[in-house]
Amino acid sequence: MLDWTDRHCRYFHRLISDRILLYTEMITAPAILRGDREKHLGFSPQEHPVALQLGGSDVEDLAECAKIAEGMGYAEINLNVGCPSDRVQKGRFGACLMKEPELVANCVSGMQAVVDIPVTVKSRIGVDDEDSFESFENFINTVKSAGCQTFVVHARKAILKGLSPKQNRSVPPLKYEYAYDIKAKHPDLNIIINGGIDTVELACSQLSQVDGVMIGRAFWNAPWLIRDMHRAMGLSNQDNDRDDVLLAYMDYCVEMMRQGLSLHWLIRPILGLYHGFPGNKKWKSHLVTEAPRRKNDVTVIKEARDWVNLC
Ligand SMILES: Cc1cc2nc3c(=O)[nH]c(=O)nc-3n(C[C@H](O)[C@H](O)[C@H](O)COP(=O)(O)O)c2cc1C
Repeated sequence: MLDWTDRHCRYFHRLISDRILLYTEMITAPAILRGDREKHLGFSPQEHPVALQLGGSDVEDLAECAKIAEGMGYAEINLNVGCPSDRVQKGRFGACLMKEPELVANCVSGMQAVVDIPVTVKSRIGVDDEDSFESFENFINTVKSAGCQTFVVHARKAILKGLSPKQNRSVPPLKYEYAYDIKAKHPDLNIIINGGIDTVELACSQLSQVDGVMIGRAFWNAPWLIRDMHRAMGLSNQDNDRDDVLLAYMDYCVEMMRQGLSLHWLIRPILGLYHGFPGNKKWKSHLVTEAPRRKNDVTVIKEARDWVNLC
């Protein structure tokens, strides 16, 4: 998620779960090919496995990026076919590619030809008036025939004109049944469902219909939900608690600050760690007021922790 799932957020989430597949923010192919590559693609080995999400529709550029990413140790390349922003539409990528399944298929096969890691697609279920199940299935069929085996389905359509990206994450209704029906008709595909999944119960119930869930905002707001979901799914036997995770993350912060980063950039992913506990508000406000002023002082985190009562 743009501006959210940066390398620090991923490092923190990895401390909570050794099973979760983490995704980068969408990074455009031109940014990788012509920008600061280390800034865009650099990550800590502890984050593994990480999928790189690419934005673009130029087959050669995407293939070159996929090769670079594989060389850097990324576990998967995921093509963004879901972002509705104007900037992205102007570049002819993101959600507007739902209208060009052949082009998406070419992008996928172009990348698959040069890497051994999986190439996957994150899509919507439609755009604008092209929102029938038939047109969604046509998209899936076309991209599947290029060899794509895994689809992450954000189960609402995108409206390309008139809604902001934020509204496009809540206004068009969720239609999980599109993803369920694709899975039922294509049992060989790996279908990962996304959109509005914010409780353990809802996540677990999806698994009787599809192969996995992708969670966005709920993990940002309450990262410990990752552990709770994995426990409920029988995927975690980690016994480190929130405070153990926080201590490990503080060590990471010290190292990052030694490399010149300000504490201010490092506290964002941990703001929701004590979601629901007494003192949560004070924990957050201490972090957001003190970290920008004391850019190099990790004790800010410890002081903030003292406001929280876990009992
Ligand atoms: C701040 C923000 C940034 C996002 N950036 C991306 C992105 O870079 N790539 C992407 O595929 N989806 C992006 N999304 C969409 C989410 O991945 C997800 O599809 C959407 O929020 C619905 O899932 P959720 O209800 O679990 O959050 C973003 C969402 C938010 C809130």
